[in-house]
Amino acid sequence: MRISVINGPNLNLLGLREPEIYGTKTYNDLVKMIETYCNERDIYVEVFQSNHEGVLVDLIQAARWEFDGIVINPAAYTHTSIAILDAIKAVNLPAVEVHISDPDAREDFRKISFVRAACIATVKGKGLNGYLEAIDILKNL
Ligand code: DQA
Repeated sequence: MRISVINGPNLNLLGLREPEIYGTKTYNDLVKMIETYCNERDIYVEVFQSNHEGVLVDLIQAARWEFDGIVINPAAYTHTSIAILDAIKAVNLPAVEVHISDPDAREDFRKISFVRAACIATVKGKGLNGYLEAIDILKNL
C-alpha cells in the first residue's frame, strides 16, 4: 500500500507553534514517527507539507498516479478551502482528515470543515498519534 500524507500551513512549525495546543514534538519528529510506523507495516509513505493552497491541490492531484490513499491535515485551509475539497473529490482516492487538536472544541470558525465531505473519516484531538490512526484506517479498508 502507498500512502501520501499531506500537511497544510504552519504545521512545519510544530514544536514551536502554540505548544499548549499542538505539543512540543517538531515537524521532523512527526515525519520520522510516520515513516517508522509505515516501515514496520510494509506501507510505502511520503510525507509532504506546504503553506500554499495551490501546492496542496497539486499534491492531491499528483497522488492520483502514485498512491492508494491520502492522509491530510489541511490545517487552516480545512475551514476555508473548497479547492482542496474539490481536489480530494476529483482524485477519487480514500482520504482521511486529521487534526492534531480538536477543532470542534475550539473557536466557532474552526467548526466548519469543507474537506470533511470528501473524506472517509476524521481523526481529531488525538495529537500526533492521530496520523497513525488515519494510516490504520486506510490500511484496513
Ligand atoms: C489543525 C487545526 C486547525 O484549525 C488549525 O488551523 C491548524 C491545525 C490541527 O491539526 O489541529 O493549523 O488542523
